[in-house]
Amino acid sequence: MEAVHYPVMHREVLENLPIPSGDSLLIDCTTGEGGHTSLFLRTYPDLTVIGLDRDRSIQKKAIERMSAFGERFRPVNTWFDEYLAEAPSGSADAILFDLGISMFHYVESERGFSFRREEPLDMRLCTDGGLTAADVVNGYDEGNLADVIYKYGEERYSRRIAHAIAEARKEGEIKSSVQLADLISRAVPKEYRYGRIHPATRTFQALRIEVNRELDRICPALDSAIRVLKKGGRIAVITFHSLEDRKVKWFFKDEAASENPRIKILTKKPIVPSEEEERENPPSRSAKLRVVERI
Ligand SMILES: C[S@@+](CC[C@H](N)C(=O)[O-])C[C@H]1O[C@@H](n2cnc3c(N)ncnc32)[C@H](O)[C@@H]1O
Repeated sequence: MEAVHYPVMHREVLENLPIPSGDSLLIDCTTGEGGHTSLFLRTYPDLTVIGLDRDRSIQKKAIERMSAFGERFRPVNTWFDEYLAEAPSGSADAILFDLGISMFHYVESERGFSFRREEPLDMRLCTDGGLTAADVVNGYDEGNLADVIYKYGEERYSRRIAHAIAEARKEGEIKSSVQLADLISRAVPKEYRYGRIHPATRTFQALRIEVNRELDRICPALDSAIRVLKKGGRIAVITFHSLEDRKVKWFFKDEAASENPRIKILTKKPIVPSEEEERENPPSRSAKLRVVERI
């Protein structure tokens, strides 16, 4: 079965990211397979979407899916922080971020994002160069590895896990996702091994964040996004874990409280998925939507 990313909180996103009538521009910073993008293109006939994604494989799917919209969909293969830094000021009516990775990455990419599949430990969104997860796991010293797992995974057994990795790699390189997941399972206490989430969940999240520098990109991108937005335009951000959400929340709070604020916050509390959506799409459970308006 082909994995299709369910567009998270699609009703809430449409409702909170209104597009003015006439020629208008939405920048979808994380197009993925284009769930949100296609929804906007269908809803607003005069809208153009610039669709960013750094991952060529998933972008190819979006391009195929959006072919019926012709010139109204303009894909760009780029990191969103880099694109927005160069984008013209006051050019967009709305900007959307749906952070993180897609179901595609776990199920189809074959890059080791899932600890349930025997795949090479890669985890890069952009496979043109740069560190892979295997480079981090086999190359970082134990202390550094523990810090990454703690900081980006909020993993309480980070030191134990880093130690187990350092011991295991003395015997030979750690190459696959299942090999790493098994090693982590054996390193943590029994009650954690059979807990609510798989014991490798947090370490895998940390590696992915480290490899793609996911958290470092958020604040610079939001800062540029505010500049790129027209007055009255909105930014909507969907996050999936507390590390991301904290960054977004505090960036917007600080900006709104500054001497010359450029935005007002429209969501004092984040919007969360309906019970119905959580039931139909359990991974949406941890999603949070924050929206601001350019003033
Ligand atoms: C959660 S998915 C988006 C799903 C999309 N909204 C949909 O409805 O199909 C996030 C996407 O953003 C991409 N991505 C994540 N961080 C990125 C970044 N900093 N720059 C560019 N693309 C990024 C990932 O490759 C992934 O395809």
